[in-house]
Amino acid sequence: MDLSRSAAWSALVSHKQEIDALHIRELFIEDDTRFKRFSVSCGDLLLDYSKNRITSQTIELLLELARSAGLEKKRAEMFNGDAINFTEHRSVLHTALRRPPGYSLEIDGLEISEEIADVLHQMQACCERVISGAWKGYTGHTMTDIVNIGIGGSDLGPCMVTEALRPFAHGGLQVHFVSNIDGTHISETLKKLNPETTLFIIASKTFTTQETLTNAMSAREWFLTHAVDESHISSHFIAVSTNREKVVEFGIDEANMFRFWDWVGGRYSLWSSIGLSIALYLGFDRFQELLNGAYAMDKHFQHEPFERNIPVLLALLGIWYNNFFGVSSHAVIPYDQYMHRFPAYLQQLDMESNGKRVNREGTSVEYATGPVIWGEPGTNSQHAFFQLLHQGANFIPADFIVPLKTQNPIGEHHDILLANCFAQTEALMKGKNDQEVRRELETAGCDQSELNALLPHKVFPGNRPTNTILLNEVNPFTLGSLIAMYEHKVFVQGIIWDVNSFDQWGVELGKQLAKTIFPELQGNETVTAHDASTNALINTYREFRLKGKTSGSPQLSFFDEI
Ligand code: F6P
Repeated sequence: MDLSRSAAWSALVSHKQEIDALHIRELFIEDDTRFKRFSVSCGDLLLDYSKNRITSQTIELLLELARSAGLEKKRAEMFNGDAINFTEHRSVLHTALRRPPGYSLEIDGLEISEEIADVLHQMQACCERVISGAWKGYTGHTMTDIVNIGIGGSDLGPCMVTEALRPFAHGGLQVHFVSNIDGTHISETLKKLNPETTLFIIASKTFTTQETLTNAMSAREWFLTHAVDESHISSHFIAVSTNREKVVEFGIDEANMFRFWDWVGGRYSLWSSIGLSIALYLGFDRFQELLNGAYAMDKHFQHEPFERNIPVLLALLGIWYNNFFGVSSHAVIPYDQYMHRFPAYLQQLDMESNGKRVNREGTSVEYATGPVIWGEPGTNSQHAFFQLLHQGANFIPADFIVPLKTQNPIGEHHDILLANCFAQTEALMKGKNDQEVRRELETAGCDQSELNALLPHKVFPGNRPTNTILLNEVNPFTLGSLIAMYEHKVFVQGIIWDVNSFDQWGVELGKQLAKTIFPELQGNETVTAHDASTNALINTYREFRLKGKTSGSPQLSFFDEI
């Protein structure tokens, strides 16, 4: 039965009508225990979800929805290694990557705790060699720069984490990330580097991703123009992949390959050897702290009752707005400049996981699923898109993530940062009503006709929901917990929406078509095989390219020759 026809769903539809007129501001006035009732912590992370359009009954009804979706059983299936990614016949075991060794779990005939421990040891040994300077390049120099070449999950997680934890780096190595097929990305990166002291990590689960392999080839060519002898590749290229055959075919020494497994999804892979760039940049011990932080959240998610379970509550609040208020986007605002890549990372985690429109049976669902995730750090975002958050026609729920401790305690910066963060959630919740605006304008000496004209523009409706996630500080442990918290939130939503959160077939069609168009762009024939728009775009570029070959610097002219 479609979820939207369940009793739990209908109860929420009725409840939404009952509480529609309630304003969060009034709820706070009526109940001074609201923060206490609607906040929960896990270690050094606290979730305040009191500024939401909820009452205790809302939470009870949402919890009922979670129970009726069989969440408890489904959660156990994931942790136990059942093949819950059923369209790819795979287990989903990123949680095993951060679990302390000494447990027994067999997948595809392999004892995975031993497999994981082996790879962690290999990573640790590599970190020790590179960081200590024992790893030498082709001219005998030690490494100064790491370049991670990967895309999607083989880039976003490590890139976000290394940026977020920059103050925890040991300082002996710089790290760079190249993902885009746009030649600018690799070119601009290589310009800054010395081939004698650069170590490339080619990170690709499948080792078939066009962008990664093309960038890796360009890096290899650049390296060989300096090092000349192909035997030097082994001291400058490492691969992280599940595909040994393709790694060897590419010319990377098997001894320099770090494996991981099909049961680790790309967007869940930063905990695996895909995190090698993190471990090299921070040191292996810090990487282990990141894993420990995630494990702490795993235990919280597994064992806390749903009403005190942070990922469950976040997931249910998202569903509340997505499915019962028709809201289709969710903002994430880290008040921490080091976390500037966090929204981008979360976009893949959430949107690639739950951007699905058929349920497990393969039937189109009759309700909205994954929202658009977006955001930018505060306070920059306040001066960009917060106007819409405060006064736009639709409301957009938002997560505010903020560390109590700054890594850069200069002047009053951090107090001002936090004042802004807390002020924004207060303003979004409270708003400013007609009477308040009127009073303000009268005090400012505004005459009546101007006051009447200005008043509607200056009113803030408020009642705009936010979650505040406080961390003691952003460090490897708390960041690990925070990331795992979002992973589990996405999992819970996928269970309730009854979608497979672990496949990503939606990325395939564009890849396939690009493979057809690529040779057409390079051919001499006018292309007619597509629709009129695509043909015209291909032929415009073809002509431009051909003219460039003959005249050197072609003019960009549209329409005349198509
Ligand atoms: O195109 C999407 C995707 O498959 C992601 O799911 C994945 O993280 C990314 O491409 C990179 O894949 P790979 O690690 O196999 O190169």
